[in-house]
Amino acid sequence: MRIFGIPIFPDQASTFAKDVDALYFFIFAVSAFFALVVAVLIIYFGIRYHKSHDRQLGARIEGSLPLELLWSVIPTVIAMVMFGWGASVYYHLRRPPDEAMQLYAVGKQWMWKFQHPEGQREINELHIPAGRAIKITISSEDVLHSLYFPAFRTKMDAIPGRYTELWFEATTPGTYHIFCTEYCGTNHSGMIGNVTVLEPAAYQAWLQGGGEGGTLAQRGARLFESLACNSCHLESGQGHGPSLKDIIGKTETLQDGSTVVVDDAYLRESILNSQAKLVRGFKPLMPTFQGLISEENLAALIEHVKSMSPKATTAAPAAPPAEKK
Ligand code: CUA
Repeated sequence: MRIFGIPIFPDQASTFAKDVDALYFFIFAVSAFFALVVAVLIIYFGIRYHKSHDRQLGARIEGSLPLELLWSVIPTVIAMVMFGWGASVYYHLRRPPDEAMQLYAVGKQWMWKFQHPEGQREINELHIPAGRAIKITISSEDVLHSLYFPAFRTKMDAIPGRYTELWFEATTPGTYHIFCTEYCGTNHSGMIGNVTVLEPAAYQAWLQGGGEGGTLAQRGARLFESLACNSCHLESGQGHGPSLKDIIGKTETLQDGSTVVVDDAYLRESILNSQAKLVRGFKPLMPTFQGLISEENLAALIEHVKSMSPKATTAAPAAPPAEKK
């Protein structure tokens, strides 16, 4: 949005940008209205009731029930409107649709690294198709960062040691800012990039242009062998570790009888520290990979494990497979 040719608001380039802005302007307008009323009344009363001579006394005020009810009820109603409206927008923002295409982002002093399921890797650049829900699973290699897409009106912290996520659906092809919005050290302000929204066909063409080393899942499959995961996690289930076939979304029973639903966060934790939530019936034989495996390789491994659960991850292929030459 521009006022007198000056850009004061980022483009609205995602499906919920308009909702976020509408809420923002509503809250802004309410705040501005009451700030104005208070300021005007201060000035008016200051003049109207100023002390005109030394021995003047103020009138005795007994209070007024209707007035007190009025200034309690009206603000309560307004605040509840903000709350209800805000909660509904927030709910929408925090719930990625099931069919969203999943990318990975890793924050690192001072850059953003992105990985596509098809294998492309980018730094401070991100290419995505318009008109498709995109979910980004975010991690950090060092300190707190926060991945922010102003034009999509969404952001999420990158927290060392855990996965967070955000989602959006870009509507308008173009190039927009990526920022880090959590102070993360000297070059925090330089931790920026560009997200390029492409028409679906252009995105397919872009995908063809890179991705050496195969898809993310294929890279994960090679790691799965080189780290010797495959020597215990046999598909037959006869190995020292559980079979990983169709494991996504499965409810596993742990040693202490509690259960866990297998998702990205559980896989990540178990790769790094398998003893944290050991599945019942298995011995704590798996070595810890804490500090030995990068966030990017973790993402690749998880994609590989997902590829063994074709039913649970029907959304996995990012787009109808383009024809390969
Ligand atoms: Cu990363 Cu600020």
